[in-house]
Amino acid sequence: MADDMTHSPVRFGVLGTGRITRRIIADLQSTPGATVSAIASRSEERARWHADSHGIPVGVEGYQELLSRDDVDAVYIALPPSMHHEWTLAACEAGKHVLCEKPVALSADQVREMIDAVNRVDVRFLDATAWLHHERTDQFRQWLTTVGPAEDSVKAAAKKDDLFSDEEDDVAAIPFRLGPLRHLSASVSFPNPFLDGDHRLHADLGGGALLDLGWYSVGLVRFASGRLPDEVYAHAVMRGEIIARVSATMIYADQLTATVSCGFDTSTRKWFEIAGQDASIVCDDFTRPWADKPARSWVHEASGKVHSFVPPSEVGVDEATADASANEPNSGRCQQERVMIGTLVDWIRQGSECGEEKPWESFYRQALDTQIMLDALQASIDRGEPVRLNSPEV
Ligand SMILES: NC(=O)c1ccc[n+]([C@@H]2O[C@H](COP(=O)([O-])OP(=O)(O)OC[C@H]3O[C@@H](n4cnc5c(N)ncnc54)[C@H](OP(=O)(O)O)[C@@H]3O)[C@@H](O)[C@H]2O)c1
Repeated sequence: MADDMTHSPVRFGVLGTGRITRRIIADLQSTPGATVSAIASRSEERARWHADSHGIPVGVEGYQELLSRDDVDAVYIALPPSMHHEWTLAACEAGKHVLCEKPVALSADQVREMIDAVNRVDVRFLDATAWLHHERTDQFRQWLTTVGPAEDSVKAAAKKDDLFSDEEDDVAAIPFRLGPLRHLSASVSFPNPFLDGDHRLHADLGGGALLDLGWYSVGLVRFASGRLPDEVYAHAVMRGEIIARVSATMIYADQLTATVSCGFDTSTRKWFEIAGQDASIVCDDFTRPWADKPARSWVHEASGKVHSFVPPSEVGVDEATADASANEPNSGRCQQERVMIGTLVDWIRQGSECGEEKPWESFYRQALDTQIMLDALQASIDRGEPVRLNSPEV
């Protein structure tokens, strides 16, 4: 993060007073270099109540009112998905930087317009997909670089002497290689988690499991592959007007395949498997570590050898400590939201000093591709048949 002594804090204004704001306001207030100066609601009373409860100086009625304030440098958009596009464009118009909740928008076209707007007025934008900022995600990025030529078969056979060892590994070294990627899978679900009236149960607000949770499972596939599939085929289970569950397959030009699942009617799942020819990475809590466990992941080698990983800052955190601090937003564990906010703060502070290097562009690409894939899954659900991504209608 940039040097705090030489900069005044980036002052965030919060749009919306929903459930997610409870956690993220605390994270904004406790991230070095960030502060929260105002919160806006459709209702003046709610704005004041939330300002008082969170120790925010000002609560204002109306989102536009907040955007016109001089004491706001950046906004955190915590509104239903159908409003992300409109309020990102309005924030750009007002010259404010943006932290926008997921899914970024309702369609890839909207995401393109949002990226165009932030580029045009030269403000910084980041979508609040916090798992991309967890330190173990950097490990996954490193491991994904080991997709080169297949391992020598003599060495692979020699490893069979060491079947099922389960030691904690030194994460600085990469003691295996994935080999060429073969299959990616990710499943994210939460069972009936939402109250009546929740925006997730309203299609016109961007509700439904495809956008709400498919954002994660599809995003994982994009993260691991770094590209778009050629073809997708999706099936949805409906609950009234909204999608309650989706399962889908994806096919890439070089025979890489992927399966994704997401749902509001299935037990809590947040796992992925990235399967290469020589090894696979498995993680059972990639969107956010389980509350009572350190963040964890495993690598299964073709030889049968199993490596178990805990990220460096959580080595030595026992389950009792983890359990005690699990619900404290600013505890030593799971800093992914604060790291995400710190990243945006750094970009804002660097201003034009970033020069040609624009670190946000890889996040834009990840977000846009994820939304392109979600569009394709929706098109496949609507048509009841496979959809090619280069077809003109997608
Ligand atoms: N990153 C994560 O881990 C995570 C977790 C949960 C949610 N999210 C995302 O964050 C966003 C908000 O989720 P949430 O769970 O906080 O939602 P929520 O509890 O339904 O709150 C949404 C807020 O938006 C405002 N709003 C404006 N127009 C609305 C309308 N027509 N209907 C409902 N609310 C309206 C409301 O605030 P006022 O009326 O006070 O203005 C409301 O409190 C979503 O995009 C969601 O996917 C992210």
